Amino acid sequence: MKKILITGGAGFIGSHVVRWFVNAYSDYQIINLDKLTYAGNLANLAEIENRNNYSFVKGDITDSTFINKLFLDEKPDAVIHLAAESHVDRSISNPSEFVMTNVVGTVNLLNAAKEYWRDDYSNKRFYHVSTDEVYGTLGEKGMFTEKTAYDPHSPYSASKASSDHFVRAYADTYGLNTVISNCSNNYGSHHFPEKLIPLAINNIKNNKPVPVYGKGENIRDWLWVEDHARAIDVIFHNAKSGETYNIGGHNEWKNIDLIRLLCKIMDQKLGRESGTSEKLIAFVTDRAGHDLRYAIDSTKLQRELGWTPSLQFEEGLEKTVDWYLSNEEWLSNVTSGNYQRYYEEQYSLR
Ligand code: NAD
Ligand code: TYD
Repeated sequence: MKKILITGGAGFIGSHVVRWFVNAYSDYQIINLDKLTYAGNLANLAEIENRNNYSFVKGDITDSTFINKLFLDEKPDAVIHLAAESHVDRSISNPSEFVMTNVVGTVNLLNAAKEYWRDDYSNKRFYHVSTDEVYGTLGEKGMFTEKTAYDPHSPYSASKASSDHFVRAYADTYGLNTVISNCSNNYGSHHFPEKLIPLAINNIKNNKPVPVYGKGENIRDWLWVEDHARAIDVIFHNAKSGETYNIGGHNEWKNIDLIRLLCKIMDQKLGRESGTSEKLIAFVTDRAGHDLRYAIDSTKLQRELGWTPSLQFEEGLEKTVDWYLSNEEWLSNVTSGNYQRYYEEQYSLR
């Protein structure tokens, strides 16, 4: 039996990964380790919380004593590491927290893996989930490949780049069995409404202004979150140690075009007259150091491991809107209390 420690499993992507592995591999034991920060929510996992092959542990990856004890007690065969501070805007206001969780937390996990697996690294695996933002920004042309030099610009991407370097260093120096994947922007259900798509859905629903940074000309490459979970499964099981894979959907959208499409879908779903939601678009002060364009070349993953994205964006976006509109309780729970304070601080001066 395989025991996999998944970190950050109560967050957006982590909850999809946990659900995927629990459903797909009844003979694996999945342990979800999460601190339950503002972004972690066990309600994301209600569907699988009583399964025999799933358990939850609350804990902080920055606490090395706790992490070492967890490895000793649970003896995992593999780690899939997603726990992180993940929002660029928050990294601009509070960079140190990103260094602690994303860098120090990752090194704590690597140290525990190095120590407790040292008899034989070959049948163990440390899978580090990273982002395309480590590559920096593109101009109008070109795409990020696995060979693109790292050039992070935000404290978030700098902390993720640093954690990627540590993972590589542990493979090269100690022979740890590692894999890294760098994925483009994800979208789908259970996405915390600080990120563009769920924030816009929530605001449109409540007739609040939809803040678009700068002129809305920045481009992101959007991937259905379940396609990311499926890619992690394929890479986890098939990649050679030391490999890196880019994951992306060949699906670039200018922010303003994406928001207009979302407004159109929301008008239809909410029975509003066409053009109503677009009136909510509000251009606000740009993000500092705002990367212009991300675009992922995932040819290597498609060619070597046969993964391809499954959903067209329009269909995925409509499914996402449907999920938010039929999960009002989830949305109102995560947007009460601290979220209001965050929103005020983030947007009142823009
Ligand atoms: P998220 O913010 O939704 O979730 C992060 C999870 O980590 C939360 O459940 C949180 O409670 C947990 N966590 C935070 N600090 C912790 C700590 N110190 N100890 C234990 N748990 C802690 O993030 P997400 O969007 O699901 O991203 C997951 C991973 O995927 C991150 O590593 C991120 O860098 C990467 N990624 C995200 C995207 C994206 O579009 N969201 C794209 C590519 C890669
Ligand atoms: P975001 O969802 O924060 O993801 P990331 O910064 O990691 O790509 O933002 C996606 C894009 O949308 C990015 O170009 C910034 C922009 N954006 C807005 O225009 N308004 C907003 O309120 C937010 C949160 C983001």
